[in-house]
Amino acid sequence: MTTHQSITDIRSREYDVDDLFLERWSPRSFLDKEVPEEVLYTVLEAAKWAPSASNIQPWRFIVAQTEADREKFHSFIYELNRNWCEKAPVLILFVSKKTMADGNPNPFHQIDAGAAWASIALQAKMLGLVTHGMGGLDREKAREVLSVPDDFEIHHVAAIGYQGAVNALPEPYQEREKPSLRKPLSETVFEGEFGKEVKGI
Ligand SMILES: Cc1cc2nc3c(=O)[nH]c(=O)nc-3n(C[C@H](O)[C@H](O)[C@H](O)COP(=O)(O)O)c2cc1C
Repeated sequence: MTTHQSITDIRSREYDVDDLFLERWSPRSFLDKEVPEEVLYTVLEAAKWAPSASNIQPWRFIVAQTEADREKFHSFIYELNRNWCEKAPVLILFVSKKTMADGNPNPFHQIDAGAAWASIALQAKMLGLVTHGMGGLDREKAREVLSVPDDFEIHHVAAIGYQGAVNALPEPYQEREKPSLRKPLSETVFEGEFGKEVKGI
């Protein structure tokens, strides 16, 4: 995206959703600028208020905001992501507890963790930050390095910080530094049963 282009030149909406949803996207270029603790914890506060089944709040967030902690994260993030996320001032590993208090499986822990991630991404955007999720990581190594207990599933790492310039990225990533598009609603919303088209959407 060039400096003269606005997000709505690239992304268009079918219905009048708030600009926030179009303006959140996942750049890979980060400025060399720390995120103040107050700002970071505000972002995490948003996750606290996400809905979860039986209000279990199965999510846990492991935050790296010091050089030493970021280096630990870099040790388990795959190279294709490490190449750009090494500049991100904050990395957060999302994990969630797979079981409920009675020891039975919690079938909702993943969707709940996803809700928390969405809240984080949107609140970050509202505060002028950018986020980029990364599933490309060695989960077993992450578990070991960060001492994540066995009954927690490891989801992804979110890089958080301030957006940098496209030309600050390694060459192969520059071309991809633009907001992606979406399928039309008619492909993802069904009427009454799976696969049945919604009239007029
Ligand atoms: C769970 C999850 C895992 C992802 N893994 C990666 C990844 O390993 N590397 C990467 O560059 N982007 C990754 N992404 C970013 C997605 O590719 C991106 O969110 C998607 O293309 C939509 O683009 P947008 O976020 O800019 O709207 C991931 C996103 C999510 C939510």
